[in-house]
Order: sequence, then structure tokens, then C-alpha cells
Amino acid sequence: EFNEKESLLILLDHARGYYKQLLWEDDEGQAIGLSYFKERGFSDETIKAFDLGYSHDKWDGFMKYASKNGFTEEMMEKAGLVLAKEDGKKYDRFRGRVMFPIHNPSGKVIGFGARILKKADNQPKYINSPESPVYYKSNVLFGMFQAKQAIRNEDNCYLVEGYTDVISMHQAGVKNVVASSGTSLTREHIKLMSRFTQNVTTLFDGDVAGIKASMRGIDMLLEEGLNVRAVVFPEGEDPDSYSQQLGASAFKAFLEKNSEDFIAFKTHLYLKDAGSDPIKKAGTIREIVGSIAKIPDAIKRLVFARECSQLMDMDEAVIVAEMNKMLIEQG
Ligand code: GTP
Ligand code: MN
Ligand code: MN
Ligand code: MN
Ligand code: MN
Repeated sequence: EFNEKESLLILLDHARGYYKQLLWEDDEGQAIGLSYFKERGFSDETIKAFDLGYSHDKWDGFMKYASKNGFTEEMMEKAGLVLAKEDGKKYDRFRGRVMFPIHNPSGKVIGFGARILKKADNQPKYINSPESPVYYKSNVLFGMFQAKQAIRNEDNCYLVEGYTDVISMHQAGVKNVVASSGTSLTREHIKLMSRFTQNVTTLFDGDVAGIKASMRGIDMLLEEGLNVRAVVFPEGEDPDSYSQQLGASAFKAFLEKNSEDFIAFKTHLYLKDAGSDPIKKAGTIREIVGSIAKIPDAIKRLVFARECSQLMDMDEAVIVAEMNKMLIEQG
């Protein structure tokens, strides 16, 4: 006798096995799915470490398989693996896509990301499992199961955008890496990381828009007392493309050389925008001081206030006074 969550996990594990078998043993899976991963530079070992798979381009491949194994359509729908049409008829959610299982930190599959193989205008690049009794997006970080030991050992966690960023970095030997997979960072994500380390390094691709969109998440990391560093990638590159391009050792050297503490990073970023415009510069200083004021540790705040005053060429006493004003306003 299993409860609902246990039954869903068993079903999801069957799905993992089903998609994995199609990738490795089915003609279509090998020709389309496996060769796609190979073209992206993923080794057999990497593909296995992440339990990657392939879903057939047909309407009921998984449903038939799961029915044969005794699962009800209601369960399949609850697990997010099948969808119901208006007339109630059900069909597979994932069709003709490469499959990225999402594991919980103890290694149980709780959902999937699924990537389309060829660009198509009317279809999203990725589709993901919907939330279910075993899958809450706000507290899942892709790759945590594969990364957690390395995060402890390195005492640092790299935070990236996508599934393939995690996988390629892992293959390049940088295994302490997780992704928020398209959702913005939540407090639950941060709590999860802080079980393993207090140090987070966020990796950004080169476009300023994407970086600024992530600022709120970074301020949350500071608020939770974590130490935050940042690395910006060259325009048009992400950690996947760049690690595949550079190879393992040059990629690791790139990370070392370009990692900056977050306050310095944010200062440089905003200063680039502000140029010599004094009003913009004042706005920048307020923005940075706002981030510093979020750090719970008073000594760290003062260290960063000094750094900010140097980078901004602004009297330290003024920075500290502004910061204290914000602290009082925050209560
Ligand atoms: P590749 O193109 O396979 O290298 O993926 P990527 O990880 O570089 O994708 P991108 O940088 O565009 O997006 C980052 C992450 O956002 C992805 O890994 C997905 O988790 C998510 N994402 C991207 N596109 C979509 C989409 O169309 N729908 C949904 N739901 N999520 C997406
Ligand atoms: Mn992107
Ligand atoms: Mn981006
Ligand atoms: Mn990307
Ligand atoms: Mn990419």
C-alpha cells in the first residue's frame, strides 16, 4: 500500500526508464535523440549521469507503456506526463523531444524538462512538467542531486540558467553547479543551496538585460547572508557553449580569472551605464548601497561600503550614512 506521493514517484521513475531506454535502444531514439546529444558534445558518461532520454514523436507511446505496467491515466495526468483534451481523451505531454529528468536532492525523479530538436516557430524550445504533489518549481534546483557533494567539497555553488549549462559544466569537471531552469530565484532555492554552502557564484550570459533581470535574485542571496560572486560570459555565449568551446582547463581558468565579488560586479555594471552623468552616478550609488544594506552582517556591510567608496570615488562617510539611513527605513 503506497500513498499518493510514493505512487507518483514510482510512476515518474518508470517514465525516466522509458525515455532512457528509447534514447539508447530504439532506432528513432538513437538516430534523433542520441545523435543530438552527441552533436552537442555530451559524452556517454555525461548522458548517463544525468539520466537523459528521448520521447517518441507519437501521441500515446508513454501512455501505452504505463498502462501495461498497471498505472491509471489519472495518475499519469497527476504526474504531468499526460494531458487531457477537451473531450477527456488523454495524450502524452512529451513527444519528439530530448528529455532532461529533474531529480530531487536525494535522486528521485520528480519531473522533466524536454527540448525540441529542431527550431519551430509555433512551439516552445523547452516544455517542463507542471507542478504536482511531488514537484514544486520554487524549491527545485536542476542538478542538485549530481552537484551536492561537489558543492560541499568546493564550498561554492555555481548558479546558471539552463539544463545544458549544468550538464556541460559537469562534463568539464566543474560539478558544483545547479540551474534555476527559467524560473526566477526563490527563497526556497536559496535555503536549499545554503544547506551545502554559504558561497554562491552566479554565471551570466553577456546581455545586460538578462543580468539586470537577475538582480532581484542576487539581492535575495545577500539578504539571506550568503556570499555572492558573479561571472559574466562574452556576448552570445552561455556556460554550455563556452565550456564546450574552451575545453575543461581553459574554461576553469576563465571562471577563476573573471569571478568578482558581487558588489564590485554590480558597481562596474552600473558605472558603465552611468558614464560621467552625475545624476545617473548618484542613482548608481543608491542602487549599490541598497544592495549592501541588505547584507545582515554588519562587518561585511562596512567592508563593502569601503569598497564601494573606492570604486565610486565617493567619501566613505557619505556611503555609510546613506546605508544607515536605508537600514533604518528597512527597519
Ligand atoms: P539550449 O538552447 O538547449 O542551449 O538551452 P539554454 O539552457 O541555453 O536555454 P536558454 O538560455 O534559452 O534558457 C535557459 C533556461 O530557461 C532553459 O534551460 C529552460 O529551463 C528555460 N527555457 C528556455 N526556453 C524555454 C521555453 O520556451 N519554455 C520554458 N518553459 N522554459 C524555457
Ligand atoms: Mn538565455
Ligand atoms: Mn540569458
Ligand atoms: Mn542559455
Ligand atoms: Mn544554451
